[in-house]
Amino acid sequence: MRIFVELSGEHPTLPRAEALAAMAAERVEVKATTFGPHLLRLETTGPVERAARRLGLAHLVCEELASGDLDSIREFARSQDLGGRTFRVRARGIGVDIEPRGVEEPLGGDFGRTGRVDLDAPQIDYRVLVGDEFVLGRILHRVDRARLEATKVAHRSFSLPISLHPKFARALVNLAGIPMAGTVLDPFCGTGGILLEAAELGLRAVGFDREGKMVRGARSSCREVGKAPDFAVADAGRLPIRSGSVHGIATDPPYGRAASTRGEPVDRLYERAFEAFVDVLNRGARVAVVLPTEKAIDIGTARMELAERHALRVHRSLARYFCVFVKA
Ligand SMILES: C[S@@+](CC[C@H](N)C(=O)[O-])C[C@H]1O[C@@H](n2cnc3c(N)ncnc32)[C@H](O)[C@@H]1O
Repeated sequence: MRIFVELSGEHPTLPRAEALAAMAAERVEVKATTFGPHLLRLETTGPVERAARRLGLAHLVCEELASGDLDSIREFARSQDLGGRTFRVRARGIGVDIEPRGVEEPLGGDFGRTGRVDLDAPQIDYRVLVGDEFVLGRILHRVDRARLEATKVAHRSFSLPISLHPKFARALVNLAGIPMAGTVLDPFCGTGGILLEAAELGLRAVGFDREGKMVRGARSSCREVGKAPDFAVADAGRLPIRSGSVHGIATDPPYGRAASTRGEPVDRLYERAFEAFVDVLNRGARVAVVLPTEKAIDIGTARMELAERHALRVHRSLARYFCVFVKA
């Protein structure tokens, strides 16, 4: 199936990386890709809709039906037999300001020869993107961005400023490439935001933190929304789990000053943690981790293979690096 993903555009590379990682995790085979910062087009085989339901840094996932100039997508529309089903057409410019009605109305007329317009709850929801060419698709999945905002950290009963925004927590879980029904570990779980997203995706989740109050708070936040990750107090450098019992790690360790390390230099903590990660993961398993410095990335690279890195600017002078390491 040819599909396209309307990316959130919040970052030049992270949304695309998340989408490709989610496809790989669900065993969707991707044959060809073209992309810009807002649009990813893929030729795929496999359970695309399942992968689509994982995404956080995207708006829509559509099956691609036709592309070219306006005449060629209108010709496609006229060739369809909707058999009286209801439909809606929505158009949007990618990198250009368009008048949507100039596209929606003629296509509405074309599809309307065999179907009926329903703007509220159509059976077929068509999407047209206008950029270098016209691309017509049928919506397979709409990412619930409102939910990702509503579960924003500040709205949870147990929250601290250390927590990642849910959409980035979800991206991190996806980057860890955990297969369906697999288990993800967050060994620095804090308020549990990453594991909440993992549980939301239907993954099993295990969280550790050295602070008992974090473990208790994370557990109660998850219970409130009906999720049940396993939490325990543990040091990320001495993980109390059997080797191979988790399929990957998604984590956001302390960066230094703000988060507590009980006086341990963060670089020493990262060394111990990466060593523990290598011990518990199977070959090929991934660690998706947010790191604060090049030095921290080097510590990871000395122990695992660095597959990806995406710098995210937090303030003018402060960056975080979303990195993916693979156990060789
Ligand atoms: C940046 S916060 C994690 C934030 C988390 N992603 C969230 O959504 O709240 C880092 C966490 O690591 C914990 N921590 C610090 N040193 C640790 C260690 N050696 N082992 C396990 N956890 C540790 C801190 O207690 C803190 O909760």
